[in-house]
Amino acid sequence: MRVDLHFTPHQIDELALRDKTVVVIDVLRASTTIASALHNGAKEIIPVTTVERAVKISGNLFGDHVLRGGERNGKMIEGFNLGNSPFDYSEDKIRGKAIIFSSTNGSLAIEKARFARNVVIGGFVNISLVVQFIKEIKQDFVILCAGNNGMFSLEDSVCAGMLVHRLTEEDGVELSLSDAAIAATVLFKGNSKNLLKMVKNSEHGKYLTSIGYADDLPACAGVDTIPVLPQLLGNVIKVKRGAEKVEGPKVPVLS
Ligand code: MLT
Repeated sequence: MRVDLHFTPHQIDELALRDKTVVVIDVLRASTTIASALHNGAKEIIPVTTVERAVKISGNLFGDHVLRGGERNGKMIEGFNLGNSPFDYSEDKIRGKAIIFSSTNGSLAIEKARFARNVVIGGFVNISLVVQFIKEIKQDFVILCAGNNGMFSLEDSVCAGMLVHRLTEEDGVELSLSDAAIAATVLFKGNSKNLLKMVKNSEHGKYLTSIGYADDLPACAGVDTIPVLPQLLGNVIKVKRGAEKVEGPKVPVLS
């Protein structure tokens, strides 16, 4: 099984991902927030890259069955109901609702993968479900890190390395790793003992702390705390049925 990895979505063309299996990783915070939202009962998440598109799509249904969520510069967008903190997506606010979601890097990475055959969204919070999915599908795959405005981001790369490392430890899985996948594995091994510290020390972790979202970091660094594997089907993200193997709480656990 060949494993390719891109540290940002900016360097890859959409058509290069056509028919591939893609794991999108945005630890801080889109992956974590999307998994939380679906676990807490959101009907579906519709990712879009621009605010204008979010407003257009939500149209007349806005506020009743449809909410807008996401961020720019980490903060809730004007005219939206929800930001990009996993804690915004509590069951009482979002159960049964469709959420039009636009985040700076995560939505872009997901859009880049729209011609892929299989797209799942992973983070530390659901890493075992991603491992299980790749083991079952038994196909070459691409890890697409969301990065940070076209730049490398430590937390996504460490999470990607964790995925590769976990797979190398599985019986019966033979991997052929790209240099980027090897590099991510090395990064994971150097940070595996304290993922929260790594997340807190990352550029985006420090930025989120500076704007008041310090509590999001433990939620995003928790391993297997959200037993949901989000999957992009057409233009919509839904829970991948049959993937919920790991028991966990309904909201991210602070540790
Ligand atoms: C993104 O998609 O750019 C991130 O999730 C940003 C954030 O932390 O809200």
